[in-house]
Amino acid sequence: MNPLDLKFIKPAVITDKRGQPYAKDFDDVYFNDLNGLDETNHVFLGGNQLLERWGEKQQKPYFCIGETGFGSGLNFLATCLAWQQCPKKPAKLHFISTELHPMSAGDLKSAHQLFPEIKTFSQKLLAKYDSFRAGIHQLAIDEDITLTLLLGDATENLKQLHAQVDAWFLDGFAPSRNPAMWSAALFNAIAQLSEPGTTIATYSAAAVVKKGLTQAGFKLTKQTGFGPKRDMLVGTMNEKPAQAINRQPWHPLPKANTQDKKVTILGGGIAGLCLARSFNLAGFHTTVIDQHSQPLKQASGQGYAMVMPLITAQKSPEALFYLRAFEHAQQAYSEHAFHQIGICELFPPEPNAKRIKNNKKLSLPDSLIQVNSQNIKYPNAGYVDNQVLAAEWSSYIDQWITAKVSCVEHHQQWQIQNELKQTIHSCDLLIIAAGMYSQVLTQAHQDLGLTAKLGQTNQIQTNKNLKLSHVILNQGYLIPIKQTALTGQYLIGATFDHLPATSWLQSDFSEYNHLQRNLTHWQQTDYAHHLSTATLVSKHTAIRATTQDHLPVCGPIINQQQFESAYQDLHHGRHWQEYPPAEPIKNLYVMTGLGSRGFTSAPLLADYLLSMITGQPLPLEADLCKIIHPNRFNFRNLKKTPTYSS
Ligand SMILES: Cc1cc2nc3c(=O)[nH]c(=O)nc-3n(C[C@H](O)[C@H](O)[C@H](O)COP(=O)(O)OP(=O)(O)OC[C@H]3O[C@@H](n4cnc5c(N)ncnc54)[C@H](O)[C@@H]3O)c2cc1C
Ligand SMILES: C[S@@+](CC[C@H](N)C(=O)[O-])C[C@H]1O[C@@H](n2cnc3c(N)ncnc32)[C@H](O)[C@@H]1O
Repeated sequence: MNPLDLKFIKPAVITDKRGQPYAKDFDDVYFNDLNGLDETNHVFLGGNQLLERWGEKQQKPYFCIGETGFGSGLNFLATCLAWQQCPKKPAKLHFISTELHPMSAGDLKSAHQLFPEIKTFSQKLLAKYDSFRAGIHQLAIDEDITLTLLLGDATENLKQLHAQVDAWFLDGFAPSRNPAMWSAALFNAIAQLSEPGTTIATYSAAAVVKKGLTQAGFKLTKQTGFGPKRDMLVGTMNEKPAQAINRQPWHPLPKANTQDKKVTILGGGIAGLCLARSFNLAGFHTTVIDQHSQPLKQASGQGYAMVMPLITAQKSPEALFYLRAFEHAQQAYSEHAFHQIGICELFPPEPNAKRIKNNKKLSLPDSLIQVNSQNIKYPNAGYVDNQVLAAEWSSYIDQWITAKVSCVEHHQQWQIQNELKQTIHSCDLLIIAAGMYSQVLTQAHQDLGLTAKLGQTNQIQTNKNLKLSHVILNQGYLIPIKQTALTGQYLIGATFDHLPATSWLQSDFSEYNHLQRNLTHWQQTDYAHHLSTATLVSKHTAIRATTQDHLPVCGPIINQQQFESAYQDLHHGRHWQEYPPAEPIKNLYVMTGLGSRGFTSAPLLADYLLSMITGQPLPLEADLCKIIHPNRFNFRNLKKTPTYSS
């Protein structure tokens, strides 16, 4: 199964064989019935010499393990235990594992009960193990342990992974019982993610494994296997195979070139605030520069913002991206800030019949979406209270500088200048998260292709409690903020108006009044009378930075001049290997174009940028990294055949 199928996987059917989990379909056990934990320690931890190598690499920021076949998670939990007990080690452990038939949480728990030593880590894993969506899931298991679970076929998933693996655990049912997994394509995908010095260990000494790994570039030796098994294989990659180069040189995802753990973020909206949180939690000193003296003003200042997935009737890049973003947002926001009261979308019956059928096909869980003939419910969606969020997360900002920035220039460091052209701050690593204004601040290097959409929300008070238990969507939205016995406070919104390029720099919108337009969505509903006679409490008008494909712009800023000159004949369709990499501007990144869904996408995008900048495994599949890349519009423009005027 492809990780980019919009699909939820049905849990594996597990049977019991002599008190151990057993997969009937493969006629194989999940772990050795002598002692699974001892087997893991012998084959995978011992075979990769992990304890010794962790000690040698203690100056490194992280150590990364890759595994085929997560199964019961026993290998993972045994590794967590060894990591915890190891006195000398790198700062962080990344464990990446693939799984085609994930076990249910109940089956995992039963399997773990056989090994009391792993109880604490088992509980930490089970607290986060809750989605069977195909594709990538990044779970923070402990302060220094991140599990990246790739659900679906191992080869397809590893082809979508952006990571550098130090050691491989080649597990999976025996090659004779599961030949489909142990393929040349899998061994090549493993090689692509390895570097010289990367090690591999597997309990299998089958000829197909030996041949495949050798051809993929590993130098192998046989060692004594565990228990009755005579042999197992261990190996090291000597030289990276020739094809292991960037297949998309026009969409580079560079690590930052700086030793300091300091970051400057230009913009204190939801993008900037999420960035401050992600980098602060990773031990960075964070500086935020904004023209306002507090976070969450401008587009992010509407008081209450919906957070929800986007489930389209057909699979689309947007749906794939926002589903991952929604899951990530649920992990990031606290229950005080994120009110998961559910969102109910009123929908005509006709198109819904199609969606009901589609949902069944995709096995989408009821906790995500429930489609009825009249409406669609998203039970775990809801809204964020911006004030609560700002109060909770402000402590992630180590330094706040209030200033209107006119330009940023690089002279050994990034120099941030105010409107009087005075340098107010210098830094090595800069992320621009300034909404529409990001376009102005990066224009010396690259055009971001943003367009401005003006919008307004209205906070109103009714003379009756409308007794709404969830947010209602009906083209516009109606958020119940506070309901007392006799009255109710609601946020209604939002309008969406195109602004010409000449007028989006204006900042005074006090003349605009969109209340009547926001009310029109409710005219045919039971709430019409009470809403139309409500008192206006406040209004919020701001500009959204949007893109033509409705996806954010997140990643490195590119040297557009170099790109256009190197890629000018792209429309002829030369082979990708013939192009040089697009040049990123050193230590300059952007996160903008969040459109109408910034509160859903920003937590994931911030962690994604942190991973990219620090060179850690990315929490997004390669094909999704591409669709949010800042260079995508320039690439698409050059791909089109030019039209010549006579
Ligand atoms: C009316 C309305 C309703 C919306 N409803 C929702 C919703 O329900 N759910 C949802 O997810 N999204 C919603 N959105 C969209 C959401 O608000 C945006 O996606 C999000 O706020 C974008 O965040 P941002 O940090 O990129 O931009 P912003 O919040 O605009 O932050 C950019 C920051 O950069 C600062 N800045 C810009 N230029 C400079 C400069 N030159 N010098 C110094 N500082 C600068 C600004 O002061 C600002 O604080 C809505 C938007 C609007 C307008
Ligand atoms: C022996 S078990 C792994 C045991 C596991 N490492 C543990 O610690 O419990 C093999 C696992 O590989 C999974 N698997 C089989 N074929 C696969 C494939 N093509 N891609 C990913 N996982 C696969 C199976 O579903 C099963 O969970």
